[in-house]
Amino acid sequence: MKRRDFLKTSGLASLAGLSVTRGAQAAGDDVMKIGLVGCGGRARGALLDRLSAKDNVKVVAICDAFEENAKSAAEAFRASDYADNMAFSDDEVFWGFDAYKKVIDLCDQALIVTTPAFRPVHYRYAVEQGKHVFMEKPCAVDAPSYRSFVESNKIADEKGLVVVVGYQRHYEPQYQQLIEKIADGVIGDVMYTRVYWNGDGIWERRRMAGDTEMMYQLRNWYHFNWLCGDGIVEQHCHNIDIANWIHSKGDFMGPLGHPVKCNAMGGRQTRRFPFFKDSGYRYDHYVCEFTFADGSQMFSQCKHMANTWSNVSEHVYGTKGEGGPGFLVDRQGKELWRIDNNDPKNQVPGPYQYEHHCQAKWIREGVKHNDGWFAANSSMTSVLGRMAACSGQEITWDDAVNNGRAEFPLESVTSWDQVPPVLPDTEPPVQPAEGEKIYENSVPMPGQWKWNA
Ligand SMILES: NC(=O)c1ccc[n+]([C@@H]2O[C@H](COP(=O)([O-])OP(=O)(O)OC[C@H]3O[C@@H](n4cnc5c(N)ncnc54)[C@H](O)[C@@H]3O)[C@@H](O)[C@H]2O)c1
Repeated sequence: MKRRDFLKTSGLASLAGLSVTRGAQAAGDDVMKIGLVGCGGRARGALLDRLSAKDNVKVVAICDAFEENAKSAAEAFRASDYADNMAFSDDEVFWGFDAYKKVIDLCDQALIVTTPAFRPVHYRYAVEQGKHVFMEKPCAVDAPSYRSFVESNKIADEKGLVVVVGYQRHYEPQYQQLIEKIADGVIGDVMYTRVYWNGDGIWERRRMAGDTEMMYQLRNWYHFNWLCGDGIVEQHCHNIDIANWIHSKGDFMGPLGHPVKCNAMGGRQTRRFPFFKDSGYRYDHYVCEFTFADGSQMFSQCKHMANTWSNVSEHVYGTKGEGGPGFLVDRQGKELWRIDNNDPKNQVPGPYQYEHHCQAKWIREGVKHNDGWFAANSSMTSVLGRMAACSGQEITWDDAVNNGRAEFPLESVTSWDQVPPVLPDTEPPVQPAEGEKIYENSVPMPGQWKWNA
């Protein structure tokens, strides 16, 4: 890959002053109107990270599916260090399933930071309205949402919109330069990568008095695959994304931009009833073997198991050496490259802020940039891993993309009274306590679970 192309795809484009197109809105020093879709934990952080760019911006509208989340976020923002940037009135604090449209209509740049499954629907609306987008990962939880996301990327590119996705490792010099060194051949040919998200786990949220089933599942979304894609998609996508970056050397649209097939296994051993309450129907571990078009492979593991070995990392092995973010060594362990943290060009803000600073600059300078392409690939690669493990089948990328089934048609989620695609067991294998519900009969069973439509 040519250096110019590498820079374009690695997040360094602005530093090199590459091809310039006018953004849709808010060029130069104009006021940029920001809208926030989703008011949960990350959304609250992401908005403040955006404001830390300290350019001329006003927050004009915010929303959440839940009324109480939208209102409490509004209160928190007005009491924050960035209170002067909060230009929304109480009438511009929205809630409900169509609230995202009201926010997006009012802004120049939308920050889309909701439960993952809604991402493709919200992204499509934003680009159709010609709005710049920051959004969190993952970007798809199934094949139809991946295909929709890819179409939205095309619309974004046609309109010259700047799209940044919260795969924040792309904004860290230790990763950017690792890929550059690998592309320069420092460790020879890439043979394989191994990527881990092995940790204790995440929150469980209890059913609240008066919750409909849809409310409960939305609140406790990480335990329902139709909403989160499972841990392999929700969190491990970060590490899988780095492997795609390494194998493709930044040429995300090229033949090595994603694996061509996967076989995998997984299951649910510790995070299940009765050991854990509110653990939905997701797995707690996955092990995948992905193969790329040149025969190189990615070995991936993710788990959420308390009191077990924790490791979240990425490592690459080449014909002449190996390494990870910030370093490469030869076969004998002799250093081939180490990032120079004293070099001023490596002293950028933390990645959660820097991704926003870069995006603000690109919008204002009219620099073309779209993270959506690699984000689509890493989200779908993770979906492919889940499909292979849950079904117990080896599945090719093309088959998964073209024939993978929908977890739920998200455009049709319009009301809290709607029936979700997965319901509590009517004849549970273990009797839950009064008021509790379990979903053990919905846990995907390898050999029986169907991945295709
Ligand atoms: N890049 C990172 O390192 C990082 C870190 C944390 C979270 N995230 C991502 O951020 C996203 C949100 O995670 P979180 O931890 O903030 O979860 P959260 O549960 O705290 O917040 C999600 C919010 O989205 C709202 N929501 C759900 N559906 C909605 C809809 N249709 N319209 C409007 N609002 C809706 C929920 O009500 C909730 O308030 C996830 O995709 C997660 O992967 C990324």
